Amino acid sequence: MDTREQLLALTDELRRRKTEGVRSVPVMEETLGRLRESVRAQLAPAAAAPTALAETTGPFRAATTPPRPSPAKVTKTISLAPIPADPPVVALPPGDKQARWDALRELVLTHPVCRAHLHPGKQAVLGVGDLDAKIFFCGEAPGAEEEIQGEPFVGPAGQLLTRMIQVMGLQRGQVYIGNIMNWRPEMPVVAGQEQVGNRAPTTEELRFCLPFLRAQLEIVQPELIVALGKTAAEGLLGAGSFRALGDVRSRWHEFGGVPLMVTYHPSYILRSQSKSSKRQIWEDLLKVMERAALPISEKQRGYFL
Ligand code: URA
Repeated sequence: MDTREQLLALTDELRRRKTEGVRSVPVMEETLGRLRESVRAQLAPAAAAPTALAETTGPFRAATTPPRPSPAKVTKTISLAPIPADPPVVALPPGDKQARWDALRELVLTHPVCRAHLHPGKQAVLGVGDLDAKIFFCGEAPGAEEEIQGEPFVGPAGQLLTRMIQVMGLQRGQVYIGNIMNWRPEMPVVAGQEQVGNRAPTTEELRFCLPFLRAQLEIVQPELIVALGKTAAEGLLGAGSFRALGDVRSRWHEFGGVPLMVTYHPSYILRSQSKSSKRQIWEDLLKVMERAALPISEKQRGYFL
């Protein structure tokens, strides 16, 4: 991805957060400096070399004196490895569900494209859960905790998702939890430091990872899918098929013949903490419980997360 695409991806992510009610994001001074340089390089490419984020790690200076990068600070940054135009063809081997899932996991963990986007010591992530689950939750992409543990939804958003599942009267292990993308989307990093922050996957990344999600659905054969947040909904309904999450949320759609409910991402609930959004996500989950014929008590009906 070139600088322009990186900036577009960043803008998309900020827009997405805005639609979710986020009004400000913390940014480190150094990151802000790099962003300014990248924007300036886009506006005046001839005057502002270098243009790649990988080469713009110095502090912000006056436009007339573009800073030289300090080689000691430069390291691998946003998606230097390209995303192939053709998504992978995933052919599941014969065998029972577990054997097919094991083969798929091996494929994802060793896939050269997935591996090319991982920082040292980090893992690609496939879904987890009951391979006979009725309900398949689909999130966005692994975050910091997930790429360390190699399991989806184990960080703060995952803890809330687990609680939501429990309030539905289920255990985490009774559902299947996956993501639309299998590695943590890369952000700029400074040598020796961990990646800070997350960004939404690009359309190319979503397209590339979709066959891995389809293969998981083929194995699990769930009765229902729950898309968590705008990115998951875009991946499943098609990028550009709706404008704001509110246009598709709380309604039944379909993916590959399976009923699909779209709701908020748990991280939105963590950020907003508003009672009405908590109630809204719970009302979406009540619809899922009804359609899955799960028992619903009066207490559950009146519940606020
Ligand atoms: N958010 C997601 O969408 N997926 C995860 O696995 C973790 C956080």
